[in-house]
Amino acid sequence: MKILIVGDVFSKLGRESLERNVKKIKEQEKINFLIVNGENISHGKGMNEGHYKWLLEQGVNVITLGNHSFNQKSIYNFIDDVSNVVRPYNYPKEEHGKGYTTVNYNGTKITVFQMMGKVLMDNEMLCPFQSTKKLLEEVKSDVYICDFHAETTSEKIAFGYAFSGKVQIIFGTHTHVQTNDARILEEGTAYITDVGMTGPLDGVIGVDKGVILDRYLNGGKMRFTPQETGKSQFCAIIVEIDENTKKATGIKTINIKE
Ligand SMILES: [Fe+2]
Ligand SMILES: [Fe+2]
Repeated sequence: MKILIVGDVFSKLGRESLERNVKKIKEQEKINFLIVNGENISHGKGMNEGHYKWLLEQGVNVITLGNHSFNQKSIYNFIDDVSNVVRPYNYPKEEHGKGYTTVNYNGTKITVFQMMGKVLMDNEMLCPFQSTKKLLEEVKSDVYICDFHAETTSEKIAFGYAFSGKVQIIFGTHTHVQTNDARILEEGTAYITDVGMTGPLDGVIGVDKGVILDRYLNGGKMRFTPQETGKSQFCAIIVEIDENTKKATGIKTINIKE
């Protein structure tokens, strides 16, 4: 089974890049299952109802979110009712939406869940390590896939080792920069520290570079707006899962600059 996972889709250039590349890759690589991180799809912050519907039209099976999950108000119109959107599992209190979803794909139960890191992130979140242990005990599945939405390489790598052999795919998101460390861990887990962003190449992790440079150089306070001009990048991974052993057997990165 081949799973395509697309990193944080950022605003207009991200949507255009996804539309240009996903269909082609799905056909060429004979992809069975598509996961997209959509936390930045609407103007860089959150996912509105229109963009949720648009992602489904692109053939997405599961959408993951992140720290921007609830930035678009219209997400409350549907997030409690749908089973293909996953926000971080480890919120400290009751939260709208779900932290995981289990999909039956040709008789194989695939559970996709998301954890948010704590290092240099929102410290209110519950421990992602303990929360994952709890989830794995409570939710029975053939294949587990985790979007670990976190800032630091160290927390992500430690998480990879902690759940190697228990979670078949652990992919990092949130930093918007693809790391060059995709590999299969010893117990058959496909791991990458960050899938990278699908969006503007010429901004600063998606944001208009003029706004960011003004902050650093002049102490400016302009509002963050997405970079809407220039080149794009499409960042994704393809993971192969052996349907008999349920182990990951291959992971490769895709990084298209255009
Ligand atoms: Fe993001
Ligand atoms: Fe994020």
